[in-house]
Amino acid sequence: MNVEETLVLIKPDGVARNLTGEFLRRIEAKGYQLVDIRMLEPELELLAAHYEEHQGKPFYEPLVEFMQSGPVVAVRVAGNRVVEGFRSLAGATDPTTAAPGTIRGDLGRDRGLAVQQNLVHGSDSAESAARELALWFG
Ligand code: RTP
Ligand code: MG
Repeated sequence: MNVEETLVLIKPDGVARNLTGEFLRRIEAKGYQLVDIRMLEPELELLAAHYEEHQGKPFYEPLVEFMQSGPVVAVRVAGNRVVEGFRSLAGATDPTTAAPGTIRGDLGRDRGLAVQQNLVHGSDSAESAARELALWFG
């Protein structure tokens, strides 16, 4: 069996709305394992490394500012095909078009801001997961 791990972040909007438990419930109900968890207020250096691929894009500065607007919960999650599986649970980036049944589709909406506040992050590949887990959990 090919058990992999992913990084899930509950973004400041999710924490502020007291949805941390709801997101952990969905991850556990799907059958994935919570391996490690921490709440933190990420430093700029951590966010710059995490969002390296987005540097220079129009939403980059608003994204970093948003991610520093309050505490974030970082979760190490394990399971067979969990990288793909959590992306499926999260839904599309844009919460307006994210499918109902997904985290973003059920609980997110576009607030007309400079960056989409979409409640959660999930690593987009096994390579990203390894890189991001090293950043957030050392
Ligand atoms: P994530 O990395 O957070 O799991 O989300 P994602 O893969 O679905 O989206 P990505 O393209 O990696 O973008 C990272 C985060 O930047 C914000 N974003 N806003 N046009 C916009 O307003 C826009 N585009 C991206 C979102 O918070 C997105 O999750
Ligand atoms: Mg992404």
